[in-house]
Amino acid sequence: MGIQKVGVLGCGLMGSGIAQVCATAGFDVTVLEVEQKFLDAGFAGIEKSLARFAERPVEKGGITAAQRDGIRERLKGTTNKADLANCDIVIEAIIENVEEKKRMYASLDGIVKKDAILASNTSSISVTELLTAVTRPERFIGLHFFNPVPLMKLVEVVRTIATSDEVYETAYEFGKKLGKVPVRTSDKTGFIVNRLLVPYLLDAIRAYEEGVGSIEDIDNAMKLGCGYPMGPFTLLDFVGLDTTYYITHVMYDEFKERRFASPPLLKRMVMAGWYGRKSGRGFYDYADPGKPRANKL
Ligand code: CAA
Repeated sequence: MGIQKVGVLGCGLMGSGIAQVCATAGFDVTVLEVEQKFLDAGFAGIEKSLARFAERPVEKGGITAAQRDGIRERLKGTTNKADLANCDIVIEAIIENVEEKKRMYASLDGIVKKDAILASNTSSISVTELLTAVTRPERFIGLHFFNPVPLMKLVEVVRTIATSDEVYETAYEFGKKLGKVPVRTSDKTGFIVNRLLVPYLLDAIRAYEEGVGSIEDIDNAMKLGCGYPMGPFTLLDFVGLDTTYYITHVMYDEFKERRFASPPLLKRMVMAGWYGRKSGRGFYDYADPGKPRANKL
């Protein structure tokens, strides 16, 4: 089955990024949101990102004015689920909440055509649990993208025990068509990246709690000593402390290992509403976004 029309559920940071990447790769994309204002916010983010690509030379991954117009033409927003009926693949990127996601899939099961592929961008929820909401578990997979989606080259293609070979390979090839590098993984909590990344991030917080180094020094150590693009605290603020905290719960619940458990400091920061960049405060203060200053914690 060839994929031509893509549906994206949710136009937040991940959903809008996925929609942008699909439209850039030449697919017709319909993005579903519950209210127009969320579509407007997501599309404004896409415009910002496209403007950055338009500033770059084409040989360095930039886009021409004509390409930008084409992307805009291929992108449609809707608040009506019926508009997803003809999609060949539907990629869900709504809130990381099992019940909300299952409700969404169940409501689409009778709308989206029977041979469509249903994919979830979940980073930590069991894909197998999500597929119980639909009547076609063999057509269900995980497609896990990374933030910022237009720049990060990876997509994890997640197989469940129910996923058919045909669906899996189609999804894998689709990942390539998006210009990403797909990796094969199975439905084990955290997949590949978060299985390795989350304990590292949590260990950075523990190291800070134990006085191993300051926030800036730990960040600089990992950035300059290991060549990582961001130190762990910059990355935590970027991913969102609330998101990370949620992931720790799911992973700890699955593995019951301390390396996946939230350090007390993370819990307290989330309770205080310090979610990182998105709330203006996390391990760094973003009052001047161009010059983040480490907080005293
Ligand atoms: N769209 C288009 N272009 C963008 C962009 C966007 N959203 N964001 C940045 N850019 C461009 C900039 O304009 C800049 O372009 P030029 O080189 O032409 O000037 C270029 O990208 C580099 O950007 P910056 O100079 O602002 O910053 P940087 O060099 O630090 O790169 C980064 C930014 C790509 C985000 C890099 O810091 C990075 O790779 N960070 C790590 C991100 C990461 O680990 N993400 C995964 C998080 S985990 C996750 O998502 C999964 C989960 O389940 C939690």
